[in-house]
Amino acid sequence: MSFKVLLLDNVDPLCEKAFKERGIEPVRKTNLSGDELHKEIADYDGIVVRSATTVTPELLASAKNLKVVGRAGVGVDNIDIDAATTRGVLVMNTPDGNTISTAEHTCGMILALSRNIPQSVEKVKSGGWDRKKYMGTEVHSKTLGIIGLGKIGAEVTKRMQQFGMNVIAYDPFASREKAESLGVELVELEKLLGSSDYITVHTPLTEKTKGLISLESASKLKKGVRLVNCARGGIYKEEDLPELIDQGYVDGVALDVYSQEPPTDEVYEIIKHPKIICTPHLGASTEEAQEKVAEQIAQQMSDALEKKSFKGS
Ligand code: MLT
Repeated sequence: MSFKVLLLDNVDPLCEKAFKERGIEPVRKTNLSGDELHKEIADYDGIVVRSATTVTPELLASAKNLKVVGRAGVGVDNIDIDAATTRGVLVMNTPDGNTISTAEHTCGMILALSRNIPQSVEKVKSGGWDRKKYMGTEVHSKTLGIIGLGKIGAEVTKRMQQFGMNVIAYDPFASREKAESLGVELVELEKLLGSSDYITVHTPLTEKTKGLISLESASKLKKGVRLVNCARGGIYKEEDLPELIDQGYVDGVALDVYSQEPPTDEVYEIIKHPKIICTPHLGASTEEAQEKVAEQIAQQMSDALEKKSFKGS
């Protein structure tokens, strides 16, 4: 039996190649309207998405032959897993492929924040020159608090330790052995908030992590902390960020992710704050990461369609 998979959301061309090598027919269709997608999807055994397509219960209902949904990336928050499971559709992700790229982007954000790189680039490009205004701070000897010591958190740790940072972490699921092998002290959340000069989050957005840092938790923070989020929008309460900065609780914020993407007009206003730097969800946007996740998802989905053992979410 030959299978057909639909590739959406600009997944890397290696995905097509890998499916073809496994004898599975890939069809690439991007920019379909909602109606077109609902019609088109009926024919396929599998679909591959990144984050642009939302896999809703309605879309799954139109997908009469669907057996597997593959997310070329980590987060499956754009896929209704319960609805898929009810229909017997398997949902898979690629938990490893993005790790290095996202960790590198996070480290870049920590350094950019410390040295006011985006703001000063903008100044010089517009013909200005202000060395005093953009005085920075060293990260050396500062404490970096990592919330979520998974794959990405661990890679951020190793890199920032090389910059001389002292790394502490909060992660109720991480083992002491793992923390010890990384040279990281595992601490309670309150202690992390109260002793970190920099905080970076590497967790999904859940009821527990939503709004983890907000005006309500401000008094728990070490004064002048810098915040980085390359994980999921909403872990820091977006609407509170300007006030957290203006009241002196926080010295700067680096955001790669937003509670809605692209952000709402309100959030665009918020990120105009001179002490907020931002990128458009670029954590996993490298050639290497996109090739890895495209190849991995094609192999995993091919295994699943051929009913071999597979890695799934
Ligand atoms: C992920 O969940 O894999 C990352 O946020 C990157 C992406 O959405 O492509």
